[in-house]
Amino acid sequence: MKKFVIASSNEHKIAEFKKMLSPFNIKVVPYKEILKDDFEIEETGTTFAENAKLKAETIAEKTKLPTFADDSGLCIKALNDEPGLFSARYAEDLGGYENAFEKLNERLNGKDSEAYFICTIALTIPNETTHIFEGRCNGFIVFPARGKTGFGYDPIFVPNGMGRTFAEISEEEKNSISHRAFAMEKLVKFLEDEEKKKESELKSKPKSTSKKEMVEEQISTPEPQKEEEVKKESKPKKKPVTQTNPMEEFIDVDVKLDSDENN
Ligand code: IMP
Repeated sequence: MKKFVIASSNEHKIAEFKKMLSPFNIKVVPYKEILKDDFEIEETGTTFAENAKLKAETIAEKTKLPTFADDSGLCIKALNDEPGLFSARYAEDLGGYENAFEKLNERLNGKDSEAYFICTIALTIPNETTHIFEGRCNGFIVFPARGKTGFGYDPIFVPNGMGRTFAEISEEEKNSISHRAFAMEKLVKFLEDEEKKKESELKSKPKSTSKKEMVEEQISTPEPQKEEEVKKESKPKKKPVTQTNPMEEFIDVDVKLDSDENN
């Protein structure tokens, strides 16, 4: 079982990521279980990718462990893609989601509108590059809000072809079509490709020759060597440079937690 740190304190997101990654034998560990000091990461980026990168890199730097983070939001076309990057703050500033729904209804003048959820995931492997994966879910906004499951803007968002809001469908259904699921799918594909690359590199490495084979080889090549060749061979040989797979550390990493002893 691999363990990756998640740079988020949003319980709903953590739960969705845990569910989505468990079939791939990946355990998601919230950063607050590893770093005891309590702090929030300020999202100062101007794009979803910048914010996700900022969160993943900050936590990877502190934990020295492979870390991923997401930044997501709801973009409503008729409102110039608002609330977008500020989706969480928009609801907070208005005193909660009920008020945010009312405000959006007012601004859209009661009309339904095309919209999409976007999720950008950044994956940081310490001392390596950060990888970015993006997923979208297209749909439209409906009023009044409907449904009880999910979180945030789920009760006013109907994904295309569903006829029900994100808050009216099951967790499993949401996790199979959501923006987060699509971004996560790309991340998982990336991990699988890295693993395949690692395997094929291992296969293509020349086999090391056993002592017995070396003796047999010497016996079967009795031709005397010329003096020049002997001189050439006695020169110290350069050590071969071995290529390491940058993801090796990431794929094999196993985070030890105090809580593991209880599992
Ligand atoms: P973040 O934690 O900065 O990525 O904020 C994302 C915000 O976008 C959330 O707090 C929600 O308001 C909204 N959001 C993102 N994903 C979803 C979703 O799947 N359902 C409902 N709201 C979402």
